[in-house]
Amino acid sequence: ESTLGAAAAQSGRYFGTAISAGKLGDSAYTTIANREFDMVTPENEMKLDATEPARGQFTFTNADRIHSWAVQNGKRVRGHTLVWHAAQPGWLQSLSGSALRQAMIDHITGVMDHYKGTIYAWDVVNEAFADSGGGRRDSNFQRTGDDWIEAAFRAARAADPAAKLCYNDYNIDNWTAAKTQGVYTMVRDFKSRGVPIDCVGLQAHFNSGSPYNSNFRTTISSFAALGVDVQITELDIQLAPAQTYAAVVNDCLAVARCTGITVWGVRDQDSWRSSDTPLLFSGSNKKPAYDAVLNALNAA
Ligand code: G3I
Repeated sequence: ESTLGAAAAQSGRYFGTAISAGKLGDSAYTTIANREFDMVTPENEMKLDATEPARGQFTFTNADRIHSWAVQNGKRVRGHTLVWHAAQPGWLQSLSGSALRQAMIDHITGVMDHYKGTIYAWDVVNEAFADSGGGRRDSNFQRTGDDWIEAAFRAARAADPAAKLCYNDYNIDNWTAAKTQGVYTMVRDFKSRGVPIDCVGLQAHFNSGSPYNSNFRTTISSFAALGVDVQITELDIQLAPAQTYAAVVNDCLAVARCTGITVWGVRDQDSWRSSDTPLLFSGSNKKPAYDAVLNALNAA
């Protein structure tokens, strides 16, 4: 196959990208995005501040733009993200305790309702673990009580039973890291107690500070063995070494329940870390990493 999406589909997987609503008018951008990818994640447009800028007033204009573009072009959508310590509107930041807990539930319900039945997977909770030590990150949500994550997942299941419900985080790719073990322990606990969780999103933002580790495959297979799907949700690699991109793809392909890969942007210029040139396209040109990814997918 000659595109990433079609190549990934040979093994029943998807290959996606983050999409920015502000770029849908750029035909060079949409040409690549439409040709190569079959899964779409809105980069910012479904976040808390974007979708509920005032309490109970939901705005989906930009999120709908991306969602419609995806659906019109035959692509599926990953919802990103319902509950996060960042990108919070001011009104939410000023709440605490049971009022905040209720606002969280209402937000999940309001957003999932709007897209009911049309989202492949939701990142229900994003980045809830601390960078070191293996415990939870301090946040307003965390201060409502340890059970906030399971409360979010239960509300999400009730809102849209058709969507896969994911926990998504960064720096949980290295199997030996305390953070990875902390998330693994939570997912194992959720599965054992029947808390509704279907998938784990490994963001996979790799750079010199958090490099790719060859134990990534162990991480993927270990999560999968708990009975959840695993998705690589925000892949980008500093300087885009072809070999590392191929290794990541091969790690996913090696695990049946690794269901797809999303890169965090189309071209280097679209990246949140554009100076790292971490993506698969430079302008309209395919980079060596693109060929490495395509070849790995086609060899599966
Ligand atoms: O849209 C405004 C614009 O009007 C304003 O002029 C400009 C000035 O700063 O800001 C623009 O908004 C920025 C937005 O990106 C769009 O470019 C926000 O300030 C900025 O915070 C936001 O950054 C995003 C970041 O998440 C925070 O939400 C990045 O684009 C996005 O790539 C990044 O994505 C995250 C994932 O959601 C979660 N995992 C990590 C990943 C990378 O940080």
